[in-house]
Amino acid sequence: MPTDGLNRRNFLITSLGVAGAGLAAPHASLHLDPPASAPAPAPAPDGRVPYGTTPGVPPEPYQFPKDFFWGASTAAYQVEGAWQEDGKGESIWDRFSHTTGLVKGSFNGDVACDSYHRYKEDIEIMKKLNLTSFRLSLSWPRIQADGTGAPNQKGLDHYKRLLDALHEAKIRPLVTAYHWDLPQALQDKGGWPNRDTEKYFAEYASIVANALGDRIHTWAIFNEPAIFTGLGYFLGVHAPGLTDFAAFLRATHTVNLAQGSAFRAIKAASPKAEVGTAFSTTYCQPKTNSEADKAASERYHAIANAWFMDPVLKGHYPDALAAAITPEQLGIQPGDMEKIKSPFDFLGINYYNRTIVHEANDWGPLHVKGEQGPDGPKTEFFWEVWPDGFHDMLMRVTHDYNKPVIEVTENGCSYGDAPDAHDRVADQRRIDYCRAYIGGMARAIRDGANIRGYNHWSLMDNFEWAEGYTQRFGLTFVDFQTQKRTIKDSGKWYAELAATGKLS
Ligand code: FCB
Repeated sequence: MPTDGLNRRNFLITSLGVAGAGLAAPHASLHLDPPASAPAPAPAPDGRVPYGTTPGVPPEPYQFPKDFFWGASTAAYQVEGAWQEDGKGESIWDRFSHTTGLVKGSFNGDVACDSYHRYKEDIEIMKKLNLTSFRLSLSWPRIQADGTGAPNQKGLDHYKRLLDALHEAKIRPLVTAYHWDLPQALQDKGGWPNRDTEKYFAEYASIVANALGDRIHTWAIFNEPAIFTGLGYFLGVHAPGLTDFAAFLRATHTVNLAQGSAFRAIKAASPKAEVGTAFSTTYCQPKTNSEADKAASERYHAIANAWFMDPVLKGHYPDALAAAITPEQLGIQPGDMEKIKSPFDFLGINYYNRTIVHEANDWGPLHVKGEQGPDGPKTEFFWEVWPDGFHDMLMRVTHDYNKPVIEVTENGCSYGDAPDAHDRVADQRRIDYCRAYIGGMARAIRDGANIRGYNHWSLMDNFEWAEGYTQRFGLTFVDFQTQKRTIKDSGKWYAELAATGKLS
């Protein structure tokens, strides 16, 4: 199966296309022909590509409110290491990365950034970055080695120490209950396509909310349900590596059910906690002005963005796909949609790039193809830099879901800049990216979006899933041989922004 980064965020259409075409030509969705209408960015006088919120125009200065959260994000498997310590069980990512050939370079997260042992050092970095928020995730198999039964006290104690240290540093923890590391034992029972996983997840949510609820006031139940179900159960490029379209659809429904049950479990333990999910999003634009491409773009939006937001917020799956995906395929039972709908306190938005969509009658059940945009520069993950899409996505969410409270739970870019002879990491491209995307977010606030915080992906370079250690997203450079951390120029730039709230 394809594993390139370009494909990573075009996965749904690739997968649905593959489903319809009988496993044929998944790369065929990746043409980069420019749409006739879009202007190319003009080069800047200093030779850098001037990607402002509008190509060629630098973002306007903006003063963020004093209480705006400035944070950085991580996930347990990507940073913790200590994969077998203190009673932790095996996760699907341990199994996947230990299987030769599935992760680039055969890397794994056995040690990663060793943050399980170095969390105090990491918090010192957060302090230097002037962060007021830190997004982390809990490793389910650290708490329940096999995904069921009594909790492992040592796992809970680790998180208590970490959370206490964050509070001590006056940094608000934003905690994701599940960032992709399912206990392998539950995968052996069928994983997310198995409806029983809803019950196991709700029990786990109840355990962590009861044990840690005094220290956690802001929860993201899931990280990117569309990505982990799509890449894990259909495209096969993420754990558990399955390529089963029917299983993927069932997995999406179990995850939606589990989200509703976990919402209630967390609220039962901590009624005042704020609970949401971190959704993956991509702004969809039709490739041409034709009615066919506009409708195709809406179908793409429905599967990539609304598939998990509509059920929880509106109580039904997106109308645009009602003809293409049936309740039977999802395994919907009476009462399910009532269970799924939940009054989220905020929406977590993860945003990286937009998708240019056109109708493709020969391509899968949805007859759509999505591509990376052709106009902006590409990061080293081949994701297009196009900050206008971020603004437009935030406005669409604002409009479609009645002006919800939004927290940006991820946004960032992969560039491989490393320390020079003077130990300086001059990553100007990341500074340009941040200024432009944060400028797009500021414009969304001006336009009426209710955004209360921004958490950059990532605090530091880490294990980037199927890409191993080949993609560096950090504000801090990590030398994976020595575990030495070096704050990059972008980290210093971000520290200034976090201290003043002033984007200039
Ligand atoms: C997101 C994931 C996060 C990280 C970034 C680059 O899809 O949530 O863990 O891999 O992409």
